[in-house]
Amino acid sequence: MSLQNFVDSLDGLLNEAKQSLDSVASSEHLEELRVKFVGAKNGAIKAVQKLMGAIESEHRPAAGKRFNEVRDAIQSALESASERLGGGSQKISNEQLVDPTLPGIRPVLGQLHPITQTIEHLKDIMGRLGFSITEGPEIEDTWHNFMALNIPEDHPARDPLDNFYLATASKQMHNPTDRDAMLLRSQTSTVQIRVMETQPLPLRIISLGRVYRPDAPDATHFPMFHQMEGLWVDKNVTMAQLKSVLRLFATSYLGSDVKVRFRPSFFPFTEPSVEVDYWWNNNWIEFGGAGMVDPNVFQALGIDSEKWSGFAFGLGVERLCMRRFGIVDIRDLYRSDVRFLRQFAS
Ligand code: PHE
Repeated sequence: MSLQNFVDSLDGLLNEAKQSLDSVASSEHLEELRVKFVGAKNGAIKAVQKLMGAIESEHRPAAGKRFNEVRDAIQSALESASERLGGGSQKISNEQLVDPTLPGIRPVLGQLHPITQTIEHLKDIMGRLGFSITEGPEIEDTWHNFMALNIPEDHPARDPLDNFYLATASKQMHNPTDRDAMLLRSQTSTVQIRVMETQPLPLRIISLGRVYRPDAPDATHFPMFHQMEGLWVDKNVTMAQLKSVLRLFATSYLGSDVKVRFRPSFFPFTEPSVEVDYWWNNNWIEFGGAGMVDPNVFQALGIDSEKWSGFAFGLGVERLCMRRFGIVDIRDLYRSDVRFLRQFAS
């Protein structure tokens, strides 16, 4: 192909493009023309570009230069046509754009999870009763989870089937009888030990956090849940004080008409021990356990049990939360379905 023929077809193309673009009247038609002339697949400019290969090599630079000019010219003709048509879309006047009489769109705000709300509420109530807040690790050793709490080696609570013992880099699976075997704590009573190991007496603390037990999930069980642990150690702490604290707590949290019942029970780390029930909606509901700190626990920590006494309690946070909010299935708390959770706005 000669250079002249090539330039002629380029000029022909440019003329045709200019003519049709000068008279284009709708953005749909403009789009058709864009595809026709510069479309990446079958655009006319592409077809002409292909011809360049047939030009003698000495003329190719000149052909290329002319090609670029024409391509740019078509491109700017397209742009000015698009501008003339109002940027390719229909022009809308300001009046049409905003209708101040329409209802607004409410912005979606985040909120605290019902369990977090409950934890904050419980901290607030217990804080006013003089308890300070502490925390302990969720990954524990058997010393804090069992041994120091007077739970003997052969106690069923230590069974590997009832606990999440961990495998670590150094051990495939920890031997539950080792003092430093690791597990996800099964109770927040671990924090009683940690606090008495590190803090001077007297002390009055609560600790709120997650605990783990390999229970099959159903409406009232979940393999992870929260407990509120309480511990008061001082001289002459009595069972009567334990009962009034749990009673005061119950009326602050559930209302003044709540009834409280203590049933004799057994925990290795308290003596005597009780289960704590609250009367709620015509039902007695068990909220947790409590008792006087067992002298064996004090002894394991080198605390003189003749001089010091204390009480401890552990309540289920999910139960407290569910009662208050009217939630009947614990699994709903952990499905992360915002349509459900949003009902419990803080
Ligand atoms: N740790 C016990 C449990 O998980 C509850 C408890 C705490 C009982 C403190 C007595 C004293 O069931």
